[in-house]
Amino acid sequence: MRILVLGSGAREHAIILALRSEGAAHEVFAAPGNAGIAQDATIVPVDQNDPAAVTDFANENAVDLVVIGPEAPLVAGVADTLRGRGIPVFGPGRAAAQLEGSKTFAKRIMDAAGVPTGRALRATTPAEVAAALDEFGSPYVVKADGLAAGKGVLVTDDRVAALAHADAYLGSGAILVEEFLSGPEVSMFFLSDGDRVLPLSPAQDFKRLGDGDSGPNTGGMGAYSPLPWLAEPFGGERAFVDQITRDVAEPVIRQLDAEGTPFIGLLYAGLILTAQGVKVIEFNARFGDPETQVVLPRLLDPLSQLLLAAATGTLEDQARPAFADAVAVTVVLASEGYPAAPVTGRALSGLDAAASVEGVHLVHAATAVAGEGLIASGGRVLNVVGLGTTFAEARARAYRALAEIGLEGGQYRTDIAARVVEA
Ligand code: AMP
Ligand code: GLY
Repeated sequence: MRILVLGSGAREHAIILALRSEGAAHEVFAAPGNAGIAQDATIVPVDQNDPAAVTDFANENAVDLVVIGPEAPLVAGVADTLRGRGIPVFGPGRAAAQLEGSKTFAKRIMDAAGVPTGRALRATTPAEVAAALDEFGSPYVVKADGLAAGKGVLVTDDRVAALAHADAYLGSGAILVEEFLSGPEVSMFFLSDGDRVLPLSPAQDFKRLGDGDSGPNTGGMGAYSPLPWLAEPFGGERAFVDQITRDVAEPVIRQLDAEGTPFIGLLYAGLILTAQGVKVIEFNARFGDPETQVVLPRLLDPLSQLLLAAATGTLEDQARPAFADAVAVTVVLASEGYPAAPVTGRALSGLDAAASVEGVHLVHAATAVAGEGLIASGGRVLNVVGLGTTFAEARARAYRALAEIGLEGGQYRTDIAARVVEA
């Protein structure tokens, strides 16, 4: 197949590596890509957020499938234009992508579909924010309604900080104050063709910058898959996945379809396992980053077929995706100053040594070529992915590889998947 992947992060690199691992003679194009992606795909000069430019490229190059990685092209309507021209695209149109782009839209869909989620109040003035904070009490959960590049959510015991966070976003739209939910978090991916849903294996993401879940929220500092601790309360991963497919994914996909905004692409459900049951904390309209880096290496079926089937409305012909028993752990290497003010442009070293550790591969997030070598060009720079038969093995491999990598001021968590090893 001739496949165009839009995006420039580790998620897109992981998607491309999964396509490459099929052993088929795919021609893979990427825009804008990064230095790691350039080793596995042909970088093409197309503005990923320009619907006409992407569509023209796909037409002129006989692209069979466009895979949209990040949310920005979805919100820009790239999928709508491609679909309007009959080009198979994995990624929802602008209207369905509001599931991620607008938290009030997501809440409305969940209410209509009967999907369990935290109670929330919408506020457009400081007075409404204050009243909503007092309604739910501490800890306070304050969310920007629109896309905020992972910075929109604050969970805090500090009422003054909660008010200040709300103030910072009130200028650009509404904010949501939500009841605090407590419990382990699970990220679930579902492929959808607008009608059918196929689940992938769950993962856990580490959102805070520091060890022990300290420090600010980030895009994600590490992840692992599968989640063996689901066995106890849920009777195993399969039963858990069945339950979430039935109670969350299918009702949401049906609701969007009924409203005339079918969701074709990747439905990401961010879940929290509370004492009162599983609740949705957020939806994304795309693969999660870094969860993708641990889910896709375990996928046994050809990713291209699944994505094409979703894009062409033929998921019903596909079997439920199967996953290897092997486990995967990824640790993110971030630049100094991430997430507030990442320092970029610094040299990376030791990548070959890191990649040669058994069971390890590197996935690039923000790297660029500079002279003979590579430099860090963004906040999250690289993912080191360790695969193994046990979490102890996969984790040890990932950290052994990380120790080979040099990046001045580089930061990473040392406790990714530590607890699952102890258990
Ligand atoms: P989000 O950007 O929506 O993924 O939220 C970032 C993180 O904030 C989540 O992964 C949770 O850890 C936390 N969070 C969001 N909503 C809630 C909530 N209602 N209760 C507790 N924690 C939350
Ligand atoms: N890892 C969380 C996200 O992709 O939004």
